[in-house]
Amino acid sequence: MSENDKQGLKRRGFLQSSAAIAVTAAIGTLGTLAPFSLAQAADKIKVGLMLPYTGTYAGLGNAITNGFKLAVEERGGKLGGREIEYFVVDDESNPAKAPENSNKLVQRDKVDVVIGTVHSGVAMGMAKVIRESGTLWINPNAGADQVTGPLCAPNIFRTSFSNWQTTYALGKVLKAEGRKTAVFITWKYAAGEQMMAGFKEGFEKEGGKLVKELYVPFPQVEFQALLTEIASIKPDAVVAFFAGGGAAKFLKDYQAAGLKGKIPLYGSGFLTDGVLEAVGDAGEGVETTLHYADGLNTKKDNAFRLAYAKTYKLQPDVYAVQGYDAGQLLAAGLDAVKGDVSKKAAMIKAMENAKIDSPRGPFTLSKAHNPVQDMYLRKVVGKESKVQGVAWKALADPARGCKQ
Ligand code: BEZ
Repeated sequence: MSENDKQGLKRRGFLQSSAAIAVTAAIGTLGTLAPFSLAQAADKIKVGLMLPYTGTYAGLGNAITNGFKLAVEERGGKLGGREIEYFVVDDESNPAKAPENSNKLVQRDKVDVVIGTVHSGVAMGMAKVIRESGTLWINPNAGADQVTGPLCAPNIFRTSFSNWQTTYALGKVLKAEGRKTAVFITWKYAAGEQMMAGFKEGFEKEGGKLVKELYVPFPQVEFQALLTEIASIKPDAVVAFFAGGGAAKFLKDYQAAGLKGKIPLYGSGFLTDGVLEAVGDAGEGVETTLHYADGLNTKKDNAFRLAYAKTYKLQPDVYAVQGYDAGQLLAAGLDAVKGDVSKKAAMIKAMENAKIDSPRGPFTLSKAHNPVQDMYLRKVVGKESKVQGVAWKALADPARGCKQ
């Protein structure tokens, strides 16, 4: 059992005993009370954070946590008038442990809402537990298309993206830049495969040809053999999905292999977000599409960046934005019911209708509860993924298979 888990158990024990004392005292004084006043008197809103805090995606999990907590702190530490109690599980980006880890929060800690996760395979493991329990779930990153596709449900929300959304618009970008053939390289798991499929769909619609799909097992970072293969194929462009530590290593290896400057490199924006400090000039000129960018220079984004930098002494990235917006979406739901989580239908309705004032720009949710959002074209200039324009306005995931 991890230290976090132990602390979660201790806190849970403490909460249960203090809740019992408060309830007994209240009944002793008042005889009977409406159920919500008892809960209000004794309980905080229980928020379960199921994120990676170790491994390749640890930086992403930390940024999401920071962003979420910033949204809560901006509201005086309360949502819907109630304080927040955090229960934390490190999911290690390990899909095999996802059902057990989800149950720690859902069954053991009985959280009111789960915020998680980063890895698409882990999200797929969470989905079964979440759908069966009916626990509210806000997904602040993992792009698995199924989550807002065939597995969509009233209690499942996402403040990030579907994997399809992040690469579909790249087809138009490559076409506009005269690239007719491309190789896609990525990790072999749902996120990489679905981003590849989204790219292929968008690129082929524009008359382009995806000539080769290249895969590395997650989370391995041995790219050399595949880079040699790319050099021999000589496509017009290389498109990649890697993130976190893996993205930093790929950018450096691409440069070291002599491909930078020879075959232009594109990707979903995870290839350059949160990694540019670590790669010297290896990222320079790389073009990506994503729902966030540096240099947006809006009032909301400037305020967010300042607050984040002041609080954490770090620059925010797309993961911090998605965590922040998970906090904002939860606030919209809880405010509507004044913190009474038993009014689940009203809370869900308020979340469905929310217009989130995000640092990325305002967004609404589709019927499948996935953001309908602008996809920016970005280009690495120095240490920034600078916005170049909007590659696709208000892009909605097709939500194939969603029946709600
Ligand atoms: C995913 O597994 O869905 C994912 C992980 C990191 C960045 C983007 C997507």
